[in-house]
Amino acid sequence: MATIGIMDSGSGGLSVLREILRLLPGDKFLYYSDNANCPYGEKSAEFILGRCREIVAGFLSEGADAVVIACNTATAAAIASLRAEWPSVPFIGMEPAVKPAALGTRSGVIGVLATAGTLKASKYLDTRDTYAGDVKVVERVGRGFVELVESLELEGPRAEEVVRASLEPLLKAGADTVVLGCTHYPFLLPVLQKVAGEGVRFIDPAPAAARQLVRLLDSKSIAHSAPGDPALRDITLVCSGPSETARRILSLIL
Ligand code: DGL
Repeated sequence: MATIGIMDSGSGGLSVLREILRLLPGDKFLYYSDNANCPYGEKSAEFILGRCREIVAGFLSEGADAVVIACNTATAAAIASLRAEWPSVPFIGMEPAVKPAALGTRSGVIGVLATAGTLKASKYLDTRDTYAGDVKVVERVGRGFVELVESLELEGPRAEEVVRASLEPLLKAGADTVVLGCTHYPFLLPVLQKVAGEGVRFIDPAPAAARQLVRLLDSKSIAHSAPGDPALRDITLVCSGPSETARRILSLIL
């Protein structure tokens, strides 16, 4: 079976692990939450690359067959350098789901919620320019969203207030489809949907990333489990800061 290293600035990447476990229930997972340095959103690309290098080296020393950068901000800042440095390692990154949003919108307006680091990165800007030329794109940083998730405040009046502040400008501009461009945000989906109402569709790119991981394992002939196999739940959790949030969210997704 395969060993997969998964990293994020905190517990957001567990939204990606949740989707991976649906496709690979019997493999071994190493999850690294760099929560001592969370959030990554406003940190420099150099700093984030440095953290990724160290974490990836740790995964490889533990025998990882593939690495998932389960963080949009770190993907934008670091994945090209990581691929250049370890050319034989399959790396999977997070792509903001601008393409499916642009294809699916009926109002012709899509919203993108992501961190400041993601929204200014050329990786995102190129994707937007390639796939969203025919629609209007309204972008906002999900201000305070990562902090809500890291403090396990996933619902309630305060969470709604924080979410509303960033979501409302997108809704006012007419967005009917909103891309969740940060892996923490899917944990706020119930609050996001409540604030937005039923007419708005949110797109979580995690299922696509999970499918991409399987494609890459297959292309490298790395043996792995399949849906329907027994769920082994072989997950090693390492946190650079306190582990309470990651443990609680992991138990929620399991
Ligand atoms: N979960 C991350 C992302 O997907 C990073 C959030 C942060 O640390 O700011 O962008």
